[in-house]
Amino acid sequence: MILCKTVEELRNEIAIAKTAGKTIGLVPTMGALHEGHASLVKAANQENDVVVVSVFVNPTQFGPNEDLDSYPRTLDADCKLAEAQGADIVFAPSPKEMYPSEDMTWVEVTGDVTKVLCGRSRPIHFRGVTTVVSKLFNLAQPDRAYFGQKDAQQVQVLKRMVKDLFFNLQMRIMPIVREADGLAKSSRNTYLSAEERQAGLILSKSLKHAQELFAAGEHDPQKLVAATTAMIKAEPMADIDYVEIYQMPDLNECPNPMQGENLLALAVRFGKTRLIDNTILEVK
Ligand code: PAJ
Repeated sequence: MILCKTVEELRNEIAIAKTAGKTIGLVPTMGALHEGHASLVKAANQENDVVVVSVFVNPTQFGPNEDLDSYPRTLDADCKLAEAQGADIVFAPSPKEMYPSEDMTWVEVTGDVTKVLCGRSRPIHFRGVTTVVSKLFNLAQPDRAYFGQKDAQQVQVLKRMVKDLFFNLQMRIMPIVREADGLAKSSRNTYLSAEERQAGLILSKSLKHAQELFAAGEHDPQKLVAATTAMIKAEPMADIDYVEIYQMPDLNECPNPMQGENLLALAVRFGKTRLIDNTILEVK
């Protein structure tokens, strides 16, 4: 496995792969890799000749009071995990390498898809994500790019960007990987105390409850939101940011009764740690 720290080094490796007619799979990450990331690298390895994993804690997607400085940085362990899952190249640039000057070009998706859910409490977040992912797409020139359904809104934002900017690649979306007890794997889980980690189980439990109500015929989005919210509020350590349902793919307001595919998404704070989780509710 090759570790590239500069744009030039990555470009050279990509040129070699392209000249040899190889297909390229890209897995963008911010590092602190866990089994959720591993599932993306594994899928990329099965479907492409060359797998590029980027490890970059992207400053432009963090708000002023967020965890940019404390975000875990574990490059050595990340390289080992990526290699074990079949990565050929790890691209781990410095912030200066990705953002060489203060004047810069932004890539920004507009509309409900970036305004609702995380867009409300993290207003500059998705602009940072789309800007850095555009840079990564241009550098790695992937045939396929791998993202997790864990960040369901990010997936919808990036799909819109790919469509609108005619990026010539396939978006491959992988299911949420969870701990045995249901907690969705996240690099931020390491921030949780033992009590907070236990309290965090309410997220997957409340989503499961909503799925059961939905399967039993409850198609009123307000009632599903109310039931999910009530269950989370019963957990004293949980501080709700949002519990909402929007219509897929562009996260527009949900009709009552619900139609087609809908996203039930939640963000909840446990102490200083903000966790997200979601499920798709589809009316067939
Ligand atoms: P990061 O949070 O490191 O996640 C990288 C990728 O791993 C994302 O596509 C995310 O959805 C996926 N992922 C994380 N936890 C997962 C889980 N439990 N199951 C399945 N997939 C999971 O998302 C980002 O980084 C950044 O915003 C990035 C796209 C790299 C842009 O900076």
